[in-house]
Amino acid sequence: MAIQTIATQPIAGQKPGTSGLRKKTAVFSQPHYLENFVQSVFDVVGNEGDPTAQTLVLGGDGRYHNRAAIQTILKMAAAHGYASVLVGRGGILSTPAASCVIRKRGAAGGLILSASHNPGGADGDFGIKYNIAAGGPAPESVTDAVYHRTESITQYRISDAPDIDVDTIGVTQIEGMRVEVIDPVADYAELMARLFDFDAIRKLFAGGFTMRFDGMHAVSGPYAHAILEGMLGAPRGTVINGVPLEDFGGGHPDPNPVNAAELIGLMAQPDAPDFGAASDGDGDRNMIVGRKFDVTPSDSLAVLAANATVAPGYRAGLKGIARSMPTSRAADKVAEALGIACHETPTGWKYFGTLLDAGMATLCGEESYGTGSDHVREKDGVWAVLFWLNLLAASGKSVEEIVTAHWVRFGRHYYSRHDYEGIDAAAANLLMDDLRIKLPALPGASLNGHTVEFADDFSYTDPVDGSTAHKQGVRIIMTDGSRIVFRLSGTGTEGATLRVYFELYEPDAAQQRRPVQQALASLIAAADSVASITTQTGRASPSVIT
Ligand code: G6P
Ligand code: ZN
Repeated sequence: MAIQTIATQPIAGQKPGTSGLRKKTAVFSQPHYLENFVQSVFDVVGNEGDPTAQTLVLGGDGRYHNRAAIQTILKMAAAHGYASVLVGRGGILSTPAASCVIRKRGAAGGLILSASHNPGGADGDFGIKYNIAAGGPAPESVTDAVYHRTESITQYRISDAPDIDVDTIGVTQIEGMRVEVIDPVADYAELMARLFDFDAIRKLFAGGFTMRFDGMHAVSGPYAHAILEGMLGAPRGTVINGVPLEDFGGGHPDPNPVNAAELIGLMAQPDAPDFGAASDGDGDRNMIVGRKFDVTPSDSLAVLAANATVAPGYRAGLKGIARSMPTSRAADKVAEALGIACHETPTGWKYFGTLLDAGMATLCGEESYGTGSDHVREKDGVWAVLFWLNLLAASGKSVEEIVTAHWVRFGRHYYSRHDYEGIDAAAANLLMDDLRIKLPALPGASLNGHTVEFADDFSYTDPVDGSTAHKQGVRIIMTDGSRIVFRLSGTGTEGATLRVYFELYEPDAAQQRRPVQQALASLIAAADSVASITTQTGRASPSVIT
């Protein structure tokens, strides 16, 4: 075994986006592509301390190319001089489990291999991101430094050791580095058992409560099998599509009503289970479904916040709530009632990290099917499902009863997101630029019956470290409390994706059961009138509506 120094050249475009570096698998499989990025990460974070004393956590969502990438990174970590690497068995670690292990084992950081909810396979996407010692995604200061490093890299170091067996729990060695293959579920399951009332949930299942958890053939399957069917005694078959596959079974592991159509269909049957849930590629997203009743992620955050004290881990109450800007303001109403702050951040879980570290927020959520808390520094799919189970067990009510009672108390925020996927990037940027030009003239204008109160391109100053983020999405807020938000996705790998978010507040309980798209129709028309979406994108309708 020897450490090799390999000459390389910068490869353009290795700039991490909303959540790490994501590219087509074919791009990632090019010679030196992964190596250049990983060496750049090590060069940047290795400067923070003595790598020989440090532990790195390593795992991924099991998608195509995961195993090969794990071997490469192990050999590079050994060459860099890490003291040890903790790697999930089979190269598997969900994103929240990786965050949990980093924190629990005092690691210096972790590398997570995933393109989250993007499809996998040889023709799909691959990705990698670095998480810091606190367990969360690296802040922009780190990802920018890594990107700059990729632009000037000339060599990387790698051990020529043979591949390591990552399928057997235990300890081996590469060069001077200890490699420990860990059970990907154990640390995480132990944390969940401390946060939630497992006895109450066990009784719920023992009493005949039925559930389907759709693992979408992605990483959350093993966690759901072990916790729901193992520790909580849910009958076998509760978890469907629970075996991670390299191509996610050909599916799109993004838990929304469009991609998890199998589950939605099941939940609409007359004999539907009491509760349905799904998670995404790397296990950090969640979708919650009741019998014939979908819960929006924004409502889910608000409901969990309003009822948080039912769970042992949150009995002391919440320090604050945080939501991304496009997420509906349902959580703001709850925060107001609880007398706590609700922070509004740009899209991207990384913006919650400082608030969680500073004790300014306990629960966080995003409209993009992400919910989480200060228990780790990532959003957490299985955690959200367990929180709902705890709530269902404690209340004895159905999902629909819980959510509709919430609306009666706080008002309903009708909410929908329209995505225009894979549109021409130049046209998308032009649409956003045109909108920005219009912003100063909008206040006072009437858009299809809604009078604009305020319009801007969202800017954020982190209240903890003072860092700023600009151009985070155009918000048009109406005097009647409704809102339209326009943003370009930061996670796509082809062309551009325009996201248009609609929100309408309805305090009158008699008006809270209308079909969503119908309730939002006047806002949807207003968005087209102000942004000329159809003309500018060449699309008559969105590709996905959630
Ligand atoms: C990832 C991030 C989330 C973010 C989401 C949507 O899942 O972890 O924090 O909300 O992407 O990003 P996009 O830029 O595609 O709307
Ligand atoms: Zn994800």
